[in-house]
Amino acid sequence: MIPDQLKTALAEHIAASITPREAAVTVMKELQAHYGWLTDEAVAEAAQLLGISPLQVEELATFYEMIYRRPVGKRVVHVCDSISCWAMGGESLLGQLAARLGIPVGGTDPEGMFTLLPCCCLGNCGDAPTMMVGDNLYGRLTLETALGVLEQERESAKM
Ligand code: FES
Repeated sequence: MIPDQLKTALAEHIAASITPREAAVTVMKELQAHYGWLTDEAVAEAAQLLGISPLQVEELATFYEMIYRRPVGKRVVHVCDSISCWAMGGESLLGQLAARLGIPVGGTDPEGMFTLLPCCCLGNCGDAPTMMVGDNLYGRLTLETALGVLEQERESAKM
């Protein structure tokens, strides 16, 4: 169950939106931040707040690749696999990161720190290959710089 303060803030945000659906992504992201992922309980709470059905929330959740309907690590690593990044070695980078983290693509490491996922274009094609960790975007990556980013993100997750 979400705290009253968050519930009030989300209700105000929805009230200020033209339609409740317009606020859906914000509501799902805030609930996800609270629970760590969009749990079934969060879907039900989002539906109640938005005045739509849980199925409609589910449909919206599956549309956005940054909304997670399964448990994920503290940091989700999205490695772009669209054309510019693919051409600049993104696929190889994804495979190498999976090997270094010791998890399959789509998996989460045993300590629950990183979940590794491929993703569509992150809008940073000029600086390919690109990955996003949490809300942070990183480009012109090599395996070494990507591993350095993950170490930074690991440290920041501990704070
Ligand atoms: S193709 Fe990777 S950021 Fe656009």
